[in-house]
Amino acid sequence: MTFTIIGAGSTTAGALIPMLLEETDAKLHLVSGRPIDVVHPRVSTDTIDITDRAELKRVVMPQMPTAIINTAAMTNVDACEADKKLAWTLNVTLVENLIRVARVADAHLVHFSTDYVFDGEKGPYTESDIPSPINYYGKSKLAGENALAIAGIESTVIRTNVVYGPLGPRPDFVRWVLQALDEQRSIKVVTDQYSNPTYVDDLAEAVITVIERSRTGLYHVGGADYLSRYEFAVKIAELFKVDPSIIEPVTTGELGQAARRPVRGGLVTLKAESDLRMKFRGVESGLVSYRHALFSEHLHPTQRKLP
Ligand SMILES: NC(=O)c1ccc[n+]([C@@H]2O[C@H](COP(=O)([O-])OP(=O)(O)OC[C@H]3O[C@@H](n4cnc5c(N)ncnc54)[C@H](OP(=O)(O)O)[C@@H]3O)[C@@H](O)[C@H]2O)c1
Repeated sequence: MTFTIIGAGSTTAGALIPMLLEETDAKLHLVSGRPIDVVHPRVSTDTIDITDRAELKRVVMPQMPTAIINTAAMTNVDACEADKKLAWTLNVTLVENLIRVARVADAHLVHFSTDYVFDGEKGPYTESDIPSPINYYGKSKLAGENALAIAGIESTVIRTNVVYGPLGPRPDFVRWVLQALDEQRSIKVVTDQYSNPTYVDDLAEAVITVIERSRTGLYHVGGADYLSRYEFAVKIAELFKVDPSIIEPVTTGELGQAARRPVRGGLVTLKAESDLRMKFRGVESGLVSYRHALFSEHLHPTQRKLP
């Protein structure tokens, strides 16, 4: 059994790779745009341009994977607004190319989407709420979902929101807040954008569960606490025992981000909880796990060379 992970350098893959190695006997095939430093007898890697359809086919087909897990995406919301062509290439065309490969390989395709497919008028949202994106990131992610919905292959879309985890390619919200607090640099954080932040290990566990239980269709995965970005930032300061006073509360209107943001976002996770038999952690428990992972990485910097 082989699982191929596309975008193996992503935050989500950072949690998924060790968990898959620990919890399954599967071989892992890691596909990334940059060299991935994971050394393990069950792991193989390919460094390619994932936007090149022929390259993707060339490296994935010989593996005949049981599942293809696509964690690659253009996730920077303002950058998607600025470069719509690249956002479409990564968030839609890549999905269409993976559908072709998955169809021939007869693989279960697991893909991720976002609460930003909704307009944020009345979140948190269930799987049966009607999407209505207000920025290009959300539009492109919805187009990716739609490609899967009509593909007629075994596939699962996991929508998630505000993913935080210690092993990402770029600072997540937690790292961004901690860096600012560490440098005593004041930051403006919005009081009116709501979500239920997702600890990345819970997202990874959901992926493994949908594959093991052959669950297809749409699932919402998010944390147990629904709160504003400002409240989340203050919780981060509290948990890491740093002074939160330089976190400046602002409204979305005052901040003037390049792309419009859904304000009352977030995801209702009851379907995943009952169908996948999962329980998602709240921010306090997630931040304790994050702190633990950061400290053990600091003590054991070679931890990605797994046993
Ligand atoms: N992070 C969140 O808060 C959040 C919220 C809602 C939904 N999601 C969804 O969850 C999924 C995983 O998110 P994530 O946060 O784990 O992603 P991430 O850490 O931002 O990583 C995305 C990966 O996509 C690849 N990628 C990005 N830009 C690229 C480019 N220009 N050319 C080639 N490859 C590129 C890179 O893979 P390599 O490093 O392997 O090259 C990158 O590591 C995505 O579908 C995202 O839309 C995330």
